[in-house]
Amino acid sequence: MSKRPVVIYGASGFSGRLVAEFLREYHLPFVAAGRSKTKIEDVMAHVPGIEAADYEVAETSSSVEDLVKLFAGAKVVCNTVGPFIYNGPAVIEAALQAGCHYVDIGGEQAWSREVAEKWSCRFAERGLLAAPGTAFMSAMSDAAARLCLESSAIDTLETVTMFKGNPTFGSTQTIFAVIQTDAHYLEQNQLKPWPRATRYDVAVPGYLPTQLALAWGGFPQPLWFKNHPQVANVRSMGGLLDRQIMENVAATEKLFEEQIRPLPKVEREKKLSEMANAVQGAMPPRENVHDHRTIDVVVGRGTTDFVQCVIFGTCCYRQTGLIQAFAAHNLVHASQRKVGFASAAEAFGHRELLRAVESHGLAKVRLTS
Ligand SMILES: NC(=O)c1ccc[n+]([C@@H]2O[C@H](COP(=O)([O-])OP(=O)(O)OC[C@H]3O[C@@H](n4cnc5c(N)ncnc54)[C@H](OP(=O)(O)O)[C@@H]3O)[C@@H](O)[C@H]2O)c1
Repeated sequence: MSKRPVVIYGASGFSGRLVAEFLREYHLPFVAAGRSKTKIEDVMAHVPGIEAADYEVAETSSSVEDLVKLFAGAKVVCNTVGPFIYNGPAVIEAALQAGCHYVDIGGEQAWSREVAEKWSCRFAERGLLAAPGTAFMSAMSDAAARLCLESSAIDTLETVTMFKGNPTFGSTQTIFAVIQTDAHYLEQNQLKPWPRATRYDVAVPGYLPTQLALAWGGFPQPLWFKNHPQVANVRSMGGLLDRQIMENVAATEKLFEEQIRPLPKVEREKKLSEMANAVQGAMPPRENVHDHRTIDVVVGRGTTDFVQCVIFGTCCYRQTGLIQAFAAHNLVHASQRKVGFASAAEAFGHRELLRAVESHGLAKVRLTS
């Protein structure tokens, strides 16, 4: 049973170690957990400032039973083990059984849909939060959208989230895994399927050439706004600020539809994983603020009103580590505003979330109407 309030599951990963780094900044004691004790110990030893953190390392299998034992006594589970459509169910089920709030960094719409359908009510009954997508992609644009809604008569949101950086092994696996899922946008509060394997050229402030964005599984925003009293329409897109990489992803989506979708599930997943392995099989270096960039663009339209919020930022993985630690800090020290399935901005406040990321110098918000 844990005597520490936060468990990072997946602590040996690129994102898990950043969650640890920011939990230390928030002075939150944590358990760094995962499938290999030796690997986690090695990774933790290299986390900047770790000597001042209160933490322990725990090895576990990924069975629900063992995860419940690990999580029992903690207050919050921070899950960084993706792709979440494959690995999420056991972890969220164990968090619920152990009586913990659950936050993860999965941006997969299909995973958010599963959480909303299968776990939201059960978490709500116990006064617990289930918040997938508590990460750069898509918590920042969700918070920006809610900022737009404060002052404008808008009912339609379009969001684009892009970054320049090196996708990690786990991210690359996830980019390929979501190709097989159904992506939806929101139209008059109904989820509608995006056309498959379709490319969108988007104008992004700060860049003269247009960028190539994809529906990329759909993003969680259409689900977060599905029952919103003001918003009826949401389309979310995203990608990397690198046209060549996005051309390759778009070509893979097309190839998938033609050759891989007809395969049985197990073979399909294996094929997608092998393709991802060929793109990124190793751990990229730590992010660099001078090299890496993020941008969120949210455009809101009403019958007679318009508003735009742009967030210029850096280091999407560090933003993710910070957002997780910010969420854990709130869940340990304060009452969240929502129970069951909700976005980080709904649970902790959109202004509060944006302020946390801005005050660490990782992003800057610009609102124009
Ligand atoms: N929404 C966002 O903005 C955002 C940002 C960052 C990451 N993500 C998502 O978060 C996920 C992780 O990304 P990452 O960058 O941290 O990847 P990563 O560096 O590859 O780390 C993955 C972690 O998951 C663990 N893991 C993988 N498969 C496992 C399994 N079957 N059982 C137990 N543990 C397993 C790994 O353990 P080992 O070390 O033992 O292999 C490692 O700790 C991806 O799905 C990615 O798309 C989303």
